Amino acid sequence: MYKRNFIRSVAATTLALSLGTAWAQADSFKIGLLLPLTGPFASTGKQLETGARLYMAQNGDTVAGKKVQLIVKDDTGVPDVSKRLAQELVVNDKVQVLAGFGLTPLAMTVAPIATLSKTPMVVMSAATSAITEASPYIVRTSFTVPQVVTILADWAIKNDIRKVVSLVTDYAPGVDSENYFQQRFVAQGGQVIETLRVPLRSPDFAPFLQKVRDAKPDALFTFVPAGVGVSLMKQFSERGMDKAGIRVIAEGSVTDDDILGSMGEVALGVVTAHHYSAAHNSALNKQFVEAFGKASGGMRPNFMAVGAYDGMRVIYEAAKATQGAGGDTLLQAMKGQSFESPRGPLSIDPQTRDVVHNIYVRKVERIAGQLWNTEVQTFTAVKDPGKAAK
Ligand code: PHB
Repeated sequence: MYKRNFIRSVAATTLALSLGTAWAQADSFKIGLLLPLTGPFASTGKQLETGARLYMAQNGDTVAGKKVQLIVKDDTGVPDVSKRLAQELVVNDKVQVLAGFGLTPLAMTVAPIATLSKTPMVVMSAATSAITEASPYIVRTSFTVPQVVTILADWAIKNDIRKVVSLVTDYAPGVDSENYFQQRFVAQGGQVIETLRVPLRSPDFAPFLQKVRDAKPDALFTFVPAGVGVSLMKQFSERGMDKAGIRVIAEGSVTDDDILGSMGEVALGVVTAHHYSAAHNSALNKQFVEAFGKASGGMRPNFMAVGAYDGMRVIYEAAKATQGAGGDTLLQAMKGQSFESPRGPLSIDPQTRDVVHNIYVRKVERIAGQLWNTEVQTFTAVKDPGKAAK
Protein backbone atom coordinates (compact mmCIF):
# COMPACT_ATOMS: atom_id res chain seq x y z
CA MET A 1 0.00 0.00 0.00
CA TYR A 2 2.73 2.41 1.07
CA LYS A 3 4.73 1.48 -2.00
CA ARG A 4 1.77 2.06 -4.30
CA ASN A 5 1.07 5.47 -2.78
CA PHE A 6 4.73 6.38 -3.02
CA ILE A 7 4.85 5.46 -6.70
CA ARG A 8 1.66 7.39 -7.30
CA SER A 9 3.02 10.51 -5.62
CA VAL A 10 6.30 10.30 -7.55
CA ALA A 11 4.31 9.98 -10.77
CA ALA A 12 2.24 13.01 -9.78
CA THR A 13 5.31 15.09 -8.97
CA THR A 14 6.96 14.07 -12.23
CA LEU A 15 3.85 15.12 -14.13
CA ALA A 16 3.69 18.46 -12.34
CA LEU A 17 7.41 19.18 -12.70
CA SER A 18 7.73 18.05 -16.28
CA LEU A 19 5.34 20.82 -17.23
CA GLY A 20 7.35 23.55 -15.59
CA THR A 21 6.82 26.73 -17.56
CA ALA A 22 7.37 25.10 -20.93
CA TRP A 23 4.18 26.50 -22.40
CA ALA A 24 4.96 30.03 -21.26
CA GLN A 25 7.90 30.22 -23.65
CA ALA A 26 6.41 28.26 -26.52
CA ASP A 27 5.80 29.99 -29.85
CA SER A 28 2.81 27.82 -30.52
CA PHE A 29 -0.44 27.52 -28.63
CA LYS A 30 -1.44 23.85 -28.41
CA ILE A 31 -4.92 22.50 -27.88
CA GLY A 32 -5.29 18.76 -27.26
CA LEU A 33 -8.69 17.67 -28.57
CA LEU A 34 -9.82 14.28 -27.25
CA LEU A 35 -12.75 12.82 -29.18
CA PRO A 36 -14.49 9.49 -29.80
CA LEU A 37 -13.70 9.26 -33.52
CA THR A 38 -14.24 5.50 -33.78
CA GLY A 39 -16.59 3.16 -31.91
CA PRO A 40 -20.26 3.61 -31.05
CA PHE A 41 -19.98 7.38 -30.42
CA ALA A 42 -18.06 8.26 -33.58
CA SER A 43 -20.87 10.57 -34.77
CA THR A 44 -20.29 12.70 -31.65
CA GLY A 45 -16.56 12.91 -32.41
CA LYS A 46 -17.21 13.90 -36.01
CA GLN A 47 -19.60 16.69 -35.02
CA LEU A 48 -17.17 17.99 -32.39
CA GLU A 49 -14.15 17.91 -34.70
CA THR A 50 -16.01 19.62 -37.54
CA GLY A 51 -17.28 22.33 -35.16
CA ALA A 52 -13.80 23.00 -33.76
CA ARG A 53 -12.16 23.08 -37.19
CA LEU A 54 -14.86 25.38 -38.57
CA TYR A 55 -14.12 27.92 -35.82
CA MET A 56 -10.42 27.81 -36.72
CA ALA A 57 -11.12 28.10 -40.44
CA GLN A 58 -13.21 31.21 -39.80
CA ASN A 59 -10.91 32.81 -37.20
CA GLY A 60 -7.43 31.93 -38.36
CA ASP A 61 -4.77 29.80 -36.75
CA THR A 62 -2.84 32.51 -34.94
CA VAL A 63 -3.66 33.97 -31.52
CA ALA A 64 -1.55 36.49 -29.64
CA GLY A 65 1.16 36.00 -32.27
CA LYS A 66 1.32 32.24 -31.64
CA LYS A 67 0.41 29.51 -34.07
CA VAL A 68 -2.57 27.49 -32.86
CA GLN A 69 -1.93 23.80 -33.11
CA LEU A 70 -4.95 21.53 -32.77
CA ILE A 71 -3.82 18.04 -31.79
CA VAL A 72 -6.74 15.67 -32.35
CA LYS A 73 -6.70 12.23 -30.67
CA ASP A 74 -9.21 9.40 -30.89
CA ASP A 75 -10.19 8.24 -27.39
CA THR A 76 -12.52 5.59 -28.93
CA GLY A 77 -15.03 6.44 -26.18
CA VAL A 78 -13.03 4.44 -23.61
CA PRO A 79 -11.99 6.21 -20.36
CA ASP A 80 -8.63 4.42 -20.00
CA VAL A 81 -7.64 5.48 -23.50
CA SER A 82 -8.73 9.04 -22.75
CA LYS A 83 -6.63 9.12 -19.61
CA ARG A 84 -3.50 7.81 -21.33
CA LEU A 85 -3.88 10.24 -24.24
CA ALA A 86 -4.49 13.19 -21.89
CA GLN A 87 -1.34 12.34 -19.98
CA GLU A 88 0.67 12.18 -23.22
CA LEU A 89 -0.78 15.48 -24.43
CA VAL A 90 0.16 17.21 -21.18
CA VAL A 91 3.59 15.67 -20.61
CA ASN A 92 4.91 15.14 -24.15
CA ASP A 93 3.08 17.71 -26.26
CA LYS A 94 2.82 20.29 -23.46
CA VAL A 95 -0.62 21.43 -24.55
CA GLN A 96 -2.01 24.62 -23.00
CA VAL A 97 -5.57 23.29 -23.10
CA LEU A 98 -7.29 19.91 -23.01
CA ALA A 99 -10.64 19.91 -24.81
CA GLY A 100 -13.40 17.71 -26.24
CA PHE A 101 -14.84 15.02 -23.90
CA GLY A 102 -17.67 13.35 -25.77
CA LEU A 103 -19.04 11.44 -22.77
CA THR A 104 -19.14 12.03 -19.02
CA PRO A 105 -16.85 9.12 -18.01
CA LEU A 106 -14.17 10.46 -20.38
CA ALA A 107 -14.28 13.89 -18.74
CA MET A 108 -14.30 12.46 -15.22
CA THR A 109 -11.23 10.31 -15.78
CA VAL A 110 -9.18 13.22 -17.16
CA ALA A 111 -10.23 15.76 -14.48
CA PRO A 112 -7.42 14.83 -12.00
CA ILE A 113 -4.81 15.27 -14.77
CA ALA A 114 -6.11 18.81 -15.42
CA THR A 115 -5.92 19.61 -11.70
CA LEU A 116 -2.46 18.18 -11.18
CA SER A 117 -0.94 19.82 -14.23
CA LYS A 118 -2.98 23.08 -13.91
CA THR A 119 -4.21 22.67 -17.48
CA PRO A 120 -7.56 24.30 -18.34
CA MET A 121 -9.95 21.63 -19.61
CA VAL A 122 -12.83 22.70 -21.84
CA VAL A 123 -15.74 20.24 -21.81
CA MET A 124 -17.50 20.63 -25.16
CA SER A 125 -19.97 17.75 -24.99
CA ALA A 126 -20.43 15.86 -21.71
CA ALA A 127 -23.40 17.04 -19.63
CA THR A 128 -23.60 15.49 -16.15
CA SER A 129 -23.99 18.25 -13.57
CA ALA A 130 -21.07 17.16 -11.36
CA ILE A 131 -18.39 17.37 -14.09
CA THR A 132 -17.39 20.97 -13.35
CA GLU A 133 -16.88 20.02 -9.70
CA ALA A 134 -14.40 17.29 -10.60
CA SER A 135 -11.62 19.86 -11.19
CA PRO A 136 -11.26 23.64 -10.65
CA TYR A 137 -9.65 23.70 -14.13
CA ILE A 138 -12.82 22.58 -15.95
CA VAL A 139 -14.86 25.05 -18.00
CA ARG A 140 -17.98 23.79 -19.81
CA THR A 141 -19.43 24.99 -23.13
CA SER A 142 -21.85 22.09 -23.74
CA PHE A 143 -24.86 22.04 -21.39
CA THR A 144 -26.06 20.34 -18.24
CA VAL A 145 -28.74 17.67 -18.20
CA PRO A 146 -30.55 19.17 -15.15
CA GLN A 147 -30.84 22.49 -17.03
CA VAL A 148 -33.01 20.88 -19.65
CA VAL A 149 -34.98 18.12 -17.93
CA THR A 150 -36.33 20.40 -15.17
CA ILE A 151 -37.79 22.68 -17.85
CA LEU A 152 -39.27 19.66 -19.62
CA ALA A 153 -40.92 18.51 -16.35
CA ASP A 154 -42.60 21.93 -15.98
CA TRP A 155 -43.81 21.77 -19.57
CA ALA A 156 -45.24 18.26 -19.06
CA ILE A 157 -47.28 19.33 -16.03
CA LYS A 158 -48.61 22.39 -17.86
CA ASN A 159 -49.62 20.17 -20.77
CA ASP A 160 -51.66 17.69 -18.77
CA ILE A 161 -49.13 14.88 -18.65
CA ARG A 162 -49.51 13.29 -15.22
CA LYS A 163 -48.19 9.73 -15.47
CA VAL A 164 -44.85 8.91 -17.09
CA VAL A 165 -42.46 6.02 -17.36
CA SER A 166 -38.80 7.09 -17.34
CA LEU A 167 -36.34 5.27 -19.62
CA VAL A 168 -32.71 6.41 -19.54
CA THR A 169 -29.25 5.15 -20.44
CA ASP A 170 -27.61 3.65 -17.37
CA TYR A 171 -24.71 6.02 -16.72
CA ALA A 172 -24.21 9.42 -15.09
CA PRO A 173 -26.17 11.75 -17.44
CA GLY A 174 -29.02 9.20 -17.59
CA VAL A 175 -29.13 9.08 -13.80
CA ASP A 176 -29.12 12.92 -13.69
CA SER A 177 -31.99 12.94 -16.22
CA GLU A 178 -34.04 10.46 -14.22
CA ASN A 179 -33.44 12.18 -10.87
CA TYR A 180 -33.91 15.81 -11.85
CA PHE A 181 -36.95 15.12 -14.04
CA GLN A 182 -38.59 13.00 -11.35
CA GLN A 183 -38.00 15.48 -8.49
CA ARG A 184 -39.45 18.40 -10.41
CA PHE A 185 -42.35 16.44 -11.91
CA VAL A 186 -43.42 14.78 -8.65
CA ALA A 187 -43.18 18.08 -6.72
CA GLN A 188 -45.94 19.39 -9.01
CA GLY A 189 -48.24 16.40 -8.67
CA GLY A 190 -46.86 14.20 -11.47
CA GLN A 191 -46.25 10.50 -11.05
CA VAL A 192 -43.28 8.48 -12.36
CA ILE A 193 -44.78 5.00 -12.38
CA GLU A 194 -41.62 3.17 -13.39
CA THR A 195 -37.93 4.03 -13.82
CA LEU A 196 -36.03 1.93 -16.36
CA ARG A 197 -32.33 2.04 -17.27
CA VAL A 198 -30.82 0.56 -20.45
CA PRO A 199 -27.12 -0.30 -20.86
CA LEU A 200 -24.78 2.25 -22.47
CA ARG A 201 -23.16 -0.32 -24.79
CA SER A 202 -25.31 -2.01 -27.48
CA PRO A 203 -28.69 -1.29 -25.91
CA ASP A 204 -31.67 -3.46 -26.90
CA PHE A 205 -34.72 -1.33 -26.19
CA ALA A 206 -37.30 -4.05 -26.92
CA PRO A 207 -37.84 -5.52 -23.43
CA PHE A 208 -37.85 -2.04 -21.86
CA LEU A 209 -40.36 -0.67 -24.35
CA GLN A 210 -42.61 -3.65 -23.67
CA LYS A 211 -42.67 -2.60 -19.99
CA VAL A 212 -43.46 0.97 -20.98
CA ARG A 213 -46.34 -0.25 -23.12
CA ASP A 214 -47.75 -2.43 -20.34
CA ALA A 215 -47.62 0.47 -17.85
CA LYS A 216 -49.85 2.63 -20.13
CA PRO A 217 -48.40 6.03 -19.16
CA ASP A 218 -49.49 9.37 -20.64
CA ALA A 219 -45.94 9.75 -21.89
CA LEU A 220 -42.54 8.14 -22.06
CA PHE A 221 -39.82 10.40 -20.64
CA THR A 222 -36.43 9.45 -22.06
CA PHE A 223 -32.73 10.26 -22.34
CA VAL A 224 -30.22 8.48 -24.57
CA PRO A 225 -26.90 9.99 -25.67
CA ALA A 226 -26.59 11.65 -29.11
CA GLY A 227 -26.69 9.17 -31.99
CA VAL A 228 -28.71 6.51 -30.15
CA GLY A 229 -32.18 8.06 -30.57
CA VAL A 230 -32.78 6.51 -34.01
CA SER A 231 -32.85 2.93 -32.76
CA LEU A 232 -34.97 3.91 -29.73
CA MET A 233 -37.57 5.66 -31.87
CA LYS A 234 -37.51 2.92 -34.51
CA GLN A 235 -38.33 0.26 -31.92
CA PHE A 236 -40.94 2.55 -30.35
CA SER A 237 -42.72 2.79 -33.70
CA GLU A 238 -42.30 -0.94 -34.52
CA ARG A 239 -44.30 -1.70 -31.36
CA GLY A 240 -47.00 0.72 -32.48
CA MET A 241 -46.60 2.70 -29.28
CA ASP A 242 -47.13 6.05 -30.99
CA LYS A 243 -50.39 4.73 -32.43
CA ALA A 244 -51.34 3.49 -28.94
CA GLY A 245 -51.32 7.13 -27.77
CA ILE A 246 -48.10 7.12 -25.71
CA ARG A 247 -46.39 10.46 -26.21
CA VAL A 248 -42.63 10.92 -26.12
CA ILE A 249 -41.03 13.73 -24.13
CA ALA A 250 -37.25 13.72 -24.06
CA GLU A 251 -33.94 15.31 -23.22
CA GLY A 252 -32.94 16.94 -26.54
CA SER A 253 -30.11 14.48 -27.33
CA VAL A 254 -32.79 11.98 -28.38
CA THR A 255 -33.80 14.04 -31.44
CA ASP A 256 -30.32 15.42 -32.11
CA ASP A 257 -30.10 17.29 -35.40
CA ASP A 258 -27.48 14.96 -36.82
CA ILE A 259 -29.85 11.98 -36.86
CA LEU A 260 -33.30 13.55 -36.84
CA GLY A 261 -33.59 13.25 -40.63
CA SER A 262 -33.33 9.46 -40.45
CA MET A 263 -35.98 9.02 -37.74
CA GLY A 264 -39.00 9.36 -39.98
CA GLU A 265 -42.67 9.79 -39.17
CA VAL A 266 -42.45 8.53 -35.56
CA ALA A 267 -40.44 11.61 -34.48
CA LEU A 268 -43.23 14.02 -35.46
CA GLY A 269 -44.64 15.73 -32.37
CA VAL A 270 -41.89 14.57 -30.00
CA VAL A 271 -41.33 17.34 -27.44
CA THR A 272 -37.85 17.93 -26.06
CA ALA A 273 -35.98 20.60 -24.12
CA HIS A 274 -32.44 21.58 -25.12
CA HIS A 275 -30.05 24.47 -25.61
CA TYR A 276 -29.48 24.18 -29.36
CA SER A 277 -31.58 23.51 -32.43
CA ALA A 278 -30.24 23.82 -35.98
CA ALA A 279 -33.58 25.56 -36.60
CA HIS A 280 -32.74 28.36 -34.12
CA ASN A 281 -33.92 31.54 -35.76
CA SER A 282 -30.99 33.96 -35.77
CA ALA A 283 -28.73 35.37 -38.46
CA LEU A 284 -25.67 33.95 -36.72
CA ASN A 285 -27.17 30.45 -36.59
CA LYS A 286 -28.20 30.53 -40.23
CA GLN A 287 -24.61 31.38 -41.20
CA PHE A 288 -23.31 28.67 -38.87
CA VAL A 289 -25.60 25.93 -40.25
CA GLU A 290 -24.69 26.88 -43.81
CA ALA A 291 -20.93 27.02 -43.16
CA PHE A 292 -21.04 23.73 -41.24
CA GLY A 293 -22.92 22.07 -44.11
CA LYS A 294 -20.31 23.28 -46.59
CA ALA A 295 -17.40 22.21 -44.38
CA SER A 296 -18.82 18.73 -43.79
CA GLY A 297 -20.20 17.76 -47.18
CA GLY A 298 -23.80 18.37 -46.19
CA MET A 299 -24.08 17.45 -42.50
CA ARG A 300 -26.43 19.35 -40.22
CA PRO A 301 -24.70 20.60 -37.05
CA ASN A 302 -26.05 19.28 -33.75
CA PHE A 303 -25.47 20.54 -30.20
CA MET A 304 -22.08 18.79 -30.09
CA ALA A 305 -20.87 20.88 -33.03
CA VAL A 306 -21.99 24.07 -31.27
CA GLY A 307 -20.34 23.00 -28.00
CA ALA A 308 -17.02 22.63 -29.86
CA TYR A 309 -17.42 25.82 -31.91
CA ASP A 310 -18.17 27.87 -28.79
CA GLY A 311 -15.47 26.06 -26.81
CA MET A 312 -12.88 27.11 -29.39
CA ARG A 313 -14.11 30.68 -29.10
CA VAL A 314 -13.69 30.61 -25.32
CA ILE A 315 -10.14 29.26 -25.76
CA TYR A 316 -9.20 31.78 -28.47
CA GLU A 317 -10.55 34.78 -26.55
CA ALA A 318 -8.80 33.71 -23.34
CA ALA A 319 -5.54 33.16 -25.22
CA LYS A 320 -5.82 36.60 -26.86
CA ALA A 321 -6.51 38.32 -23.53
CA THR A 322 -3.54 36.66 -21.85
CA GLN A 323 -0.98 36.72 -24.70
CA GLY A 324 -1.07 32.95 -25.09
CA ALA A 325 -0.24 32.14 -21.47
CA GLY A 326 -1.37 28.83 -20.01
CA GLY A 327 -2.38 27.51 -16.61
CA ASP A 328 -4.21 29.68 -14.07
CA THR A 329 -3.88 32.87 -16.12
CA LEU A 330 -5.60 31.27 -19.10
CA LEU A 331 -8.27 29.69 -16.89
CA GLN A 332 -9.03 33.04 -15.28
CA ALA A 333 -9.64 34.59 -18.71
CA MET A 334 -12.17 31.89 -19.59
CA LYS A 335 -14.34 32.62 -16.57
CA GLY A 336 -17.09 35.17 -17.10
CA GLN A 337 -16.86 35.27 -20.91
CA SER A 338 -20.13 36.25 -22.53
CA PHE A 339 -21.08 36.29 -26.22
CA GLU A 340 -23.69 35.42 -28.82
CA SER A 341 -23.47 31.79 -29.91
CA PRO A 342 -25.39 30.09 -32.73
CA ARG A 343 -27.54 28.71 -29.86
CA GLY A 344 -28.34 32.24 -28.51
CA PRO A 345 -26.64 34.20 -25.70
CA LEU A 346 -24.01 32.26 -23.73
CA SER A 347 -21.89 33.02 -20.68
CA ILE A 348 -19.49 31.12 -18.47
CA ASP A 349 -20.49 31.52 -14.83
CA PRO A 350 -17.31 32.83 -13.14
CA GLN A 351 -18.11 31.00 -9.89
CA THR A 352 -19.05 27.56 -11.18
CA ARG A 353 -17.26 27.68 -14.59
CA ASP A 354 -20.43 26.17 -16.01
CA VAL A 355 -22.40 27.31 -19.04
CA VAL A 356 -25.37 29.69 -18.68
CA HIS A 357 -27.64 29.88 -21.75
CA ASN A 358 -31.22 29.75 -23.01
CA ILE A 359 -33.12 26.51 -22.84
CA TYR A 360 -35.78 25.94 -25.48
CA VAL A 361 -38.82 23.68 -25.50
CA ARG A 362 -38.96 22.24 -29.01
CA LYS A 363 -41.37 20.15 -31.03
CA VAL A 364 -40.38 17.99 -34.01
CA GLU A 365 -42.08 19.29 -37.16
CA ARG A 366 -41.80 18.64 -40.86
CA ILE A 367 -40.93 21.79 -42.76
CA ALA A 368 -40.46 21.68 -46.54
CA GLY A 369 -40.06 17.91 -46.37
CA GLN A 370 -37.45 17.87 -43.59
CA LEU A 371 -37.71 17.20 -39.86
CA TRP A 372 -36.64 20.03 -37.51
CA ASN A 373 -36.68 20.70 -33.77
CA THR A 374 -38.83 23.83 -33.87
CA GLU A 375 -38.37 26.05 -30.81
CA VAL A 376 -41.75 26.82 -29.24
CA GLN A 377 -40.75 28.36 -25.90
CA THR A 378 -37.60 30.04 -24.56
CA PHE A 379 -36.28 30.18 -20.99
CA THR A 380 -33.49 32.73 -20.73
CA ALA A 381 -30.11 32.56 -18.98
CA VAL A 382 -30.66 29.19 -17.28
CA LYS A 383 -28.01 28.12 -14.74
CA ASP A 384 -27.32 24.52 -13.76
CA PRO A 385 -29.86 23.57 -11.08
CA GLY A 386 -27.34 21.03 -9.82
CA LYS A 387 -25.25 23.88 -8.38
CA ALA A 388 -28.11 26.10 -7.28
CA ALA A 389 -29.33 23.22 -5.08
CA LYS A 390 -26.14 23.27 -3.00
C1 PHB B 1 -22.62 12.60 -21.55
O1 PHB B 1 -22.00 11.51 -21.52
O2 PHB B 1 -22.49 13.42 -20.65
C2 PHB B 1 -23.53 12.86 -22.69
C3 PHB B 1 -23.25 12.33 -23.94
C4 PHB B 1 -24.12 12.54 -24.99
C5 PHB B 1 -25.26 13.31 -24.78
C6 PHB B 1 -25.54 13.88 -23.56
C7 PHB B 1 -24.67 13.64 -22.49
O3 PHB B 1 -26.10 13.50 -25.80
